[in-house]
Amino acid sequence: MGLNWDCVDQIEEEKKFITYKVVELENKKVGFELVVRGEKMVLTPEQVMASFLRRAKTYFENAGMMAKEMVISVPTYASNAERQAYLDAAEIAGIKCVRLLNESTAIGYNYGFFRKADLTKDVPRKVAFVDFGHSKLCVTFAQFLQGKMKIIYTYSDRNMGARQIDYLLFDLFGGEFNKKYGCDPRPNVRCRLRLLDAIEKMRKLLTSNKEADINCDSLMEDEDFHKHFKRTDLEELITPFLERFKTVVSEAYEKSGLKDKLDFIELVGDATRMPAIQEILKEIFPGKELSRTLNSQETVARGCALQAAMLSPNFMVQNFEVQDFQQHPIQIQYKFSNSEGALTESDIFTIGTSYPSTKTITFANKLGALDLLIKYHEASEILPGLPKQIAQYRI
Ligand SMILES: Nc1ncnc2c1ncn2[C@@H]1O[C@H](COP(=O)(O)OP(=O)(O)OP(=O)(O)O)[C@@H](O)[C@H]1O
Ligand SMILES: [Mg+2]
Repeated sequence: MGLNWDCVDQIEEEKKFITYKVVELENKKVGFELVVRGEKMVLTPEQVMASFLRRAKTYFENAGMMAKEMVISVPTYASNAERQAYLDAAEIAGIKCVRLLNESTAIGYNYGFFRKADLTKDVPRKVAFVDFGHSKLCVTFAQFLQGKMKIIYTYSDRNMGARQIDYLLFDLFGGEFNKKYGCDPRPNVRCRLRLLDAIEKMRKLLTSNKEADINCDSLMEDEDFHKHFKRTDLEELITPFLERFKTVVSEAYEKSGLKDKLDFIELVGDATRMPAIQEILKEIFPGKELSRTLNSQETVARGCALQAAMLSPNFMVQNFEVQDFQQHPIQIQYKFSNSEGALTESDIFTIGTSYPSTKTITFANKLGALDLLIKYHEASEILPGLPKQIAQYRI
């Protein structure tokens, strides 16, 4: 969501898992080319998301609820352009998005709101949430008091999910098949899908079993692909991935400033079920039990539902105060049109600023019109290719 044609590396990464042709649109955005009933058409990611939202809306309506307004979760790493894409999707679907909520914050809502009895008013409980899912990893450190949550630190890697592991297996198996039968299933969309699907099933089996089989009947040119695979083979193949995972989580833990101060470690994404991942987490958080008290499938949606109920006048919900974490530093640049001299630039929100928060700036000089630019800091870790600019005003 929100990518444009300049996000070259990320588009290449996504293409591995997309079956439709990815094309550049006139406005430099990304589109998917597909053929529907013999007719070629191009859909934007926003339109695809809008149809998901419309479908979700019908579920609510069938349950007798009006769903004109929604709280929509976004990946925590999303920058302004990516968030805007979700808002556009909601608009296309005819839904008013009353708030975009970071996935990690939604998880925190769900954790803190329902545990009022377990939490105290003055001794904060410090929790690490490790959300390792199909496409991404997000590590969040938060502290909870009764009716209060503060996100202390959060870090996401948008390209560190179980699908990356599947792709390593896909490359290995595809290469083996090619060597044996002289035909390569990897560039073929249908074969790629079938093989990736069988690989995911095998990978899940290797969580509870030390060995598993992968079977793909007539994968290509009537040749079958069968293989017996061991968990140790998998772990050996993905060693560099596991090392990267360890580095990312350890660095986030270090930066959180909560070393040896954590009370609980909560695992969220379903890919955290992999034994090798759990071993690494036990090493990073020694002596701590890895808990799984949140329902991985529902926790983000439940967090959004809670936020929606809080924002709605139709529900009476106890107050839950949230201080979120600003991940990308934001700057303001301004200049009066009749003044001499350079643009004034200053940081308004640094990394780690709690929000919601307000900043008041007084402009003493009033020489002509004021040109204002709000943007992410050059050093911010916005995905390469995405615009740094957030808003521009002439007053
Ligand atoms: N028992 C298991 N062992 C290993 N992996 C599993 C198991 N069960 C599910 N998974 C993997 O977990 C992933 C899905 O996890 P989850 O539902 O948390 O992801 P998601 O929220 O859809 O993705 P995202 O990363 O975009 O947040 C899939 O890759 C799936 O194969
Ligand atoms: Mg997820």
